[in-house]
Amino acid sequence: MKYSKYSTVIIGSGIAGLYAALKIEQQVNLPDGILLITKSKLGESNSRYAQGGMVAVMKENQADSTASHISDTIKAGAGLSEFNTVKYISENSDTVVKDLLKLGVEFDRDENDNLCFTKEAAHSVNRILHSGGDATGKIIEQTLCQKVKENNNIEVYEQTGAIELLVTQNECKGVIVFNDEIEEYETIYSPAIILATGGIGQLYKYTTNPTGATGDGIALAYNAGAVMQDLEFVQFHPTALAIDGEENRFLISEAVRGEGAKLCDGDGAEFMQSYDERKELAPRDIVTRAIFNEMKKNGTDNMYLNAACIDSRQLAKRFPNISKKCLENGIDIAHDFIPVAPAAHYYMGGIKTNLKGETSISGLYAIGETASTGLHGANRLASNSLLECVVCAYSVAKYLKTIELKTPKQINENLKSLIDKYSDEDVILEELDIKTLKKELQDVMWSYAGILRDENSLLTAITKINKIKIEFPRKYKCLNREEYEFKNMLCTALLICYSALRRKESRGAHFRTDYTATKDECTHSIITKKEGALDFVK
Ligand code: FAD
Ligand code: SIN
Repeated sequence: MKYSKYSTVIIGSGIAGLYAALKIEQQVNLPDGILLITKSKLGESNSRYAQGGMVAVMKENQADSTASHISDTIKAGAGLSEFNTVKYISENSDTVVKDLLKLGVEFDRDENDNLCFTKEAAHSVNRILHSGGDATGKIIEQTLCQKVKENNNIEVYEQTGAIELLVTQNECKGVIVFNDEIEEYETIYSPAIILATGGIGQLYKYTTNPTGATGDGIALAYNAGAVMQDLEFVQFHPTALAIDGEENRFLISEAVRGEGAKLCDGDGAEFMQSYDERKELAPRDIVTRAIFNEMKKNGTDNMYLNAACIDSRQLAKRFPNISKKCLENGIDIAHDFIPVAPAAHYYMGGIKTNLKGETSISGLYAIGETASTGLHGANRLASNSLLECVVCAYSVAKYLKTIELKTPKQINENLKSLIDKYSDEDVILEELDIKTLKKELQDVMWSYAGILRDENSLLTAITKINKIKIEFPRKYKCLNREEYEFKNMLCTALLICYSALRRKESRGAHFRTDYTATKDECTHSIITKKEGALDFVK
């Protein structure tokens, strides 16, 4: 096996990973250099698909204030958002947005060259910046990718997945990676490993997330012994485009509802007034359950979004990609109802971190969607994720600047046996039908651990996932990237089910039909592998 060393290794090239790489390279003393590894092409990520925008609490937006943003975030978080985290992220918003502008990110502006702020569900004022109309993620990601490519000090490994963290005595010493193009393993030593591996949407049959969102960071950190937080909280977006046969679903941004579109049935009858006085702009979990309930009541696979009430020129200008995608499917959004249904979208749970990005394992950091900072609580407020990615990337860089990054010099004896499991060339692995196994897992998670859960459904999910595990006899070495991802998916799926089973209440995105009330005594749920009860998960 090849060995190398770097002062810092960032895993993942979404907005969190890319921005962290740029800030760390700019600010931190890196005697052994910096490496960014990513399992696909640079920039392929959930970030690329973000549409609605990014929260920006900016001094020049006089209608807004950090107090108002903090209050909206905490309300949406349903009692689990951490005040200090929310305050920190909100207060740093102005700085990071100005830095993105300096890096060349072009947010949309009005005819007077002022930034355009829009509104999404559960925000009390217009505070969301967008770019390219509905291509915010793509434009930020492309700008940051370009900067990373131009920066000769940032080394990049593409098509390279992190497959095992090297942790001994609660200290992370490095990571084993696998390049799926040349099928080679490499052990990388580093005093600072930053997980920026994104979300978990692919665990579910219907998702807005691209294929790489397989919960790798969650499984890697959990198996390395990190403290994990609130793993039961999966956010389902209410309005994914419901086209038959498409399970990876295109998002119809909440911003379309923000601009005035209405939810209705096939005859145009609106229904949100029966669920919440904020109607279409109620928090995401409420709108999702309302649509889900209407689908069940009507025996249909989708409900509809009517955007025809918005001026057609405004619609085309503000949502060019949504208009185009719908038109490709024969839907003219200026006139036709858009078929929509909920889909797994965002993970509030994750690796517990503080505001410096530190996890419970020394030398291991986590930022972006894979981390649980306490910002989102039980339910994320729209467009807070991109803000969290950027602020936390900025924070980890600021913290690394204050410590000495000493690269471990040699193989730690405690880790040798783990490394050997991957370098052993005598292990013969027979091919498995991962496509079928993955589909089974996604069906189970959607049907039994999805928008509505109860004890019976979660126990059924666990039994079924354990059966799938029997069909997948890999503990360490796998045959290819799909297998490594599937190993992580199984681990993360069980963690979600067990966490959901333990939370005997309903709160935010976690809705138990057998415990519908919210209970004051239920706070954050914490899981570590050391607990023993979950040792079966690996
Ligand atoms: P990601 O962007 O998902 O990046 C993760 C990276 O890690 C990827 O490059 C992936 O390939 C890599 N990776 C994963 N595992 C490994 C591994 N084992 N080894 C190496 N590399 C690995 N949020 C908002 O705030 N506003 C929005 O408007 C918005 N719209 C959205 C629309 C859609 C369709 C989706 C899916 C999400 C949206 N979100 C939005 C959420 C937001 O985009 C994400 O939460 C955020 O971009 C996550 O960024 P990240 O950098 O943490 O992870
Ligand atoms: C959307 O555009 O509806 C997604 C926004 C988000 O997930 O924050």
